[in-house]
Amino acid sequence: MSAPIGVFDSGVGGLSVLHEIRRLMPCENLLYVADSGYVPYGEKPPEMIRERSLRIAEFLIGQGARALVLACNTATAAAVNELRSTFDMPIIGMEPAVKPAAAATRNGKVGVLATTGTLQSAKFAALLDRFARDVQVLTQPCPGLVECVERGELQGPEVRALLKRYVDPLLQAGCDTLILGCTHYPFLKPVLRECLPAGVQLVDTGEAVARQLQARLNESGRQASDGTGNVRFWSSGDPQLMAAVLPVLWGSAGAVSKLPV
Ligand code: SIN
Repeated sequence: MSAPIGVFDSGVGGLSVLHEIRRLMPCENLLYVADSGYVPYGEKPPEMIRERSLRIAEFLIGQGARALVLACNTATAAAVNELRSTFDMPIIGMEPAVKPAAAATRNGKVGVLATTGTLQSAKFAALLDRFARDVQVLTQPCPGLVECVERGELQGPEVRALLKRYVDPLLQAGCDTLILGCTHYPFLKPVLRECLPAGVQLVDTGEAVARQLQARLNESGRQASDGTGNVRFWSSGDPQLMAAVLPVLWGSAGAVSKLPV
């Protein structure tokens, strides 16, 4: 049996990436950590996020992980370089889908929905410099959305009002392509689409990250190829709360253990 893949996020948003990994690599055993005791990461100091990411990575490696996925844009911006220089294994991070959005926009105007931590990071600035020189990029921090997803609240008046508050200025500025730059936001796509005029495109990176992981595992010739993989969950918050939202966000119930770090 091959060693598992460790995936973590500030909370349950990374389950949107876990779905893509499961779809592409159904035989792999997966470990998922939600750092829900510390969520949201979006406005927290990068030093704290780096410290949490290191503790969680050590925990997942202690559980046998042979590769890590930071299924969190904010944690990737703050910690992926340090993790890569600390641990010798494939480590895949998230980044807002600036390159595909720049290729997809028809009018050259792209909006980015993400956390303050992601939007203020040096990584994001470098991404814009590299891929968005010929397009206009407008950014929008979205406080409150992560908390809705953490509660399993994917629709209703509060979600809709928040989404409209964040998306309307981007639409008024003429953006025809919106990047979902936080792994919690894909869960809000159905309501988000209702708030958008026809023709506005949504872009996110979950599937691309799963493909990148698969390529890295293939390179090392270590992809599981038979059986159905299992999934184990941990939360640094209240495991019962995570267990309660799993059926909504993961599609089935599951046992959640208390993260000991
Ligand atoms: C957050 O915890 O604020 C969001 C996580 C992310 O950026 O994906």
